[in-house]
Amino acid sequence: MQLQALAQLLGDSAPHSGQALADHFGVTRAAIWKRIEELRAQGLPIEAAAGQGYRLAAPIEWLDPARILAELSLAQRRWVAALDVAWEIDSTNSELLRRDDASSVQVCIAERQSAGRGRRGRAWISPLGSNVYFSLRRRFEHGMAALSGLSLAAGVALARALADVGARGFGLKWPNDLLADGHKLAGILVELGGEFLGPCHAVIGIGINVALPTYVGAPFDQPVTDLAALCAAAPSRNRVAGRLLAHLLDVLDRFERDGFAAFRDEYAALDLLAGRRVRVSDAHGTRAGTAIGVDVRGALRVEHEGVVATCDSAEVTVRGA
Ligand code: BTN
Repeated sequence: MQLQALAQLLGDSAPHSGQALADHFGVTRAAIWKRIEELRAQGLPIEAAAGQGYRLAAPIEWLDPARILAELSLAQRRWVAALDVAWEIDSTNSELLRRDDASSVQVCIAERQSAGRGRRGRAWISPLGSNVYFSLRRRFEHGMAALSGLSLAAGVALARALADVGARGFGLKWPNDLLADGHKLAGILVELGGEFLGPCHAVIGIGINVALPTYVGAPFDQPVTDLAALCAAAPSRNRVAGRLLAHLLDVLDRFERDGFAAFRDEYAALDLLAGRRVRVSDAHGTRAGTAIGVDVRGALRVEHEGVVATCDSAEVTVRGA
């Protein structure tokens, strides 16, 4: 019996007795119980009601490439060479970095990541069926130096997508943490490959908390929130992924032509640090100042005693002072 088949059967959130499941899959009730425990460990909130059997607290809409692509215009669909939905994968970013296909745009989305990665070597907690784990690989012709500000532009695309699904009250903490009321809602990890001065590719990985299972609270190293808390109800994950893909395709197209400068004003409207006292840490040490926005390359501008320093996203860490 495949774990995926059992999870999908339970996805309707109706009660299923252990015996009915055992009969359906031709296994023992003990085998079903063992598999239920595995699914719980992967993040599915399966309840066991006495006399009724197993059920999910709420129905799950599984990820579906057709529903994701339905959010794209016909022109946008032609740009996407591949859109894969994985049931489980180590990391959608790692998967796209492993590929050597040079076609323009490839997308990988997963129901669960067993080794999801965040920035600065952190793990990205990726329970089954509850969030969006999304990566897009795109080719760029003009070398890595032209990609400065790319992760901030991706943040703008992400913000547009979240607004489309009804989220409000969030912003971007430089370089590209998406926060609502100080709680992390989504994160972006951009990784580059290819030639420094010639054709290269970027893998833009985005994790969005859509409806975190409540008991996955402990391992987070910072306060987190999800779209279920920010919207009237948890939005469809297919729609979230589809809006994200649609906006990313547009933003990356414009970014390749005009660079980050084209998104500077939109970023400024989302900038949670502007006017705030910050501490900037990099290889040269730590200094304090006031964040005063970003420049045309996406570098953070920090003012201290009348002197403005710029900090590159690749080199610094910023914390509220
Ligand atoms: C961060 O804020 O630290 C960045 C988090 C990025 C997480 C996403 S989930 C999809 C993609 N695959 C990964 O392993 N990481 C990114």
